[in-house]
Amino acid sequence: MNPDDILTANPLREGIANRLTPETCTLVIFGATGDLTHRKLIPALYNLAAEGALPPSLIIRGFARREKTTEEFRKELEASTRKFSRTPVNDELWNNFAATIFYNQSAFDDPRGYSDLAREIQENDVAKGTGGNRLFYLAVAPDQFPIILGHLRSSGLNDDVQGGWARIIVEKPFGMDLASARELNGLVGEVFPEKDTFRIDHFLGKETAQNIMVLRFANSIFESLWNSSHISHVQITAAEPLGVEGRAGYYEKSGAMRDMVQNHLLQLLTLMAMEPPTSLGADAIRDEKVKVLRSLRPLHGDDVFRHVVRAQYTEGLINGQPVASYRGEQGVSKDSTTETYVALQLNIDNWRWAGVPFFIRTAKRMPKGGTEIAVTFKGVPRVLFNQSAQSLDENVLVIRIQPDEGVSLRMSAKMPGSSLRIEPVKMDFHYGTSFGKATPEAYERLLLDAMSGDATLFARCDEVEEAWAFVDGIEEAWKTRSDDLAFHAAGSWGPTEATELAARHGVTWRRM
Ligand code: BG6
Repeated sequence: MNPDDILTANPLREGIANRLTPETCTLVIFGATGDLTHRKLIPALYNLAAEGALPPSLIIRGFARREKTTEEFRKELEASTRKFSRTPVNDELWNNFAATIFYNQSAFDDPRGYSDLAREIQENDVAKGTGGNRLFYLAVAPDQFPIILGHLRSSGLNDDVQGGWARIIVEKPFGMDLASARELNGLVGEVFPEKDTFRIDHFLGKETAQNIMVLRFANSIFESLWNSSHISHVQITAAEPLGVEGRAGYYEKSGAMRDMVQNHLLQLLTLMAMEPPTSLGADAIRDEKVKVLRSLRPLHGDDVFRHVVRAQYTEGLINGQPVASYRGEQGVSKDSTTETYVALQLNIDNWRWAGVPFFIRTAKRMPKGGTEIAVTFKGVPRVLFNQSAQSLDENVLVIRIQPDEGVSLRMSAKMPGSSLRIEPVKMDFHYGTSFGKATPEAYERLLLDAMSGDATLFARCDEVEEAWAFVDGIEEAWKTRSDDLAFHAAGSWGPTEATELAARHGVTWRRM
């Protein structure tokens, strides 16, 4: 494509429901010198620009405390985009893209920073045609949210002007418990209406997460089996070989439960367990997801210790290299009880899922990285081919969220030969080979959706609160004791307590 085209192309693109057009705007990133901007947001925007997917005249304004010029800011972003972009950076495309980026230096609590920003946005609205549309991105620590929101309101930047719109994207963590999430929802709600509020859960932007609904509702063969009559259990795993990577300050307070389960993994669970929505509209889909969260059997008190295992990694080996224990990581307290591993057995008390155990497991410092959902179907009756002492393997449908995105189905087949030997085989679909193109990063999709005003892949306020209500029960019980905290060596698949948790339901955790 001609590099001159990248900032003018404005193709229609498909939302989950409709063909939607991302509208041009000024995108203001608060916390623009931080990790998220460098690793994810700017590389995502660059890739969109390189594909011609960004709306014409889009302006990106980084707003942050550190002193620097726009030129310096662009140079730093170029270096990080070269490092983190999913496609190699083309000099010409980069230069065209970088020309749309500006830097606003200001403390978050300085009203002058916001009045300057408002003036510059208005000038661009006229000179560059950004049409009064503004998209604010809170990529800052949560304690800055109230300050920034307050100033956006007092400077009038949150008002819809000249027929344009003002929207806000809020990064996680969205609260630390139900009370703080409610407070934050209240605070955001005073400044932006729900329709203009986009709470990021980047797992929802992953292609494979979006495909869960397509798999279920665009194929006739799965949905008729998608219930307790045919499914014996479901396992959702998100394993990471990485440790806390310099984020000890945050992770010590959050742990795996708040960091991964409350948001990403419960979101995957809702997509797997929801009823068919009445339409593909954002609210119709989110209504069904909320119902799943409301049907989760709450865990409180002693139940927590029967259904949830928490653990922490000790020293071990990852890819043959020695790694420190969690307590040995910089910034982690020597007697920390923060969980880096968590395994849960959940029940969804509704008509479809009664009696089907759902298992969730996530951890840092696992031997391998990967996120997958495995649906195990009930075995065939113990007649005909299934009469020997060792029963036939069940059918398992595995949705690989990442890496090697795809879906596989395990089934039994007769091994060629004169004797009857039945072995499990796999039907396997790989995105890469079937569609022959790379999967976009979650943030690419989510940024375009926010520019289009499509909130389907963002968490609604009630979703976030229901998920916190469930997690709070567990966190409360954990506060009452710490002797349940198990340990496992870094580079191992978790503690024996988790193996026992699954075994109580006749289940073995999958090896990935
Ligand atoms: C983030 C968590 O939300 O998700 C991290 O804070 C985690 O701890 C990350 O590593 C995992 O996301 P991804 O897309 O790399 O699987």
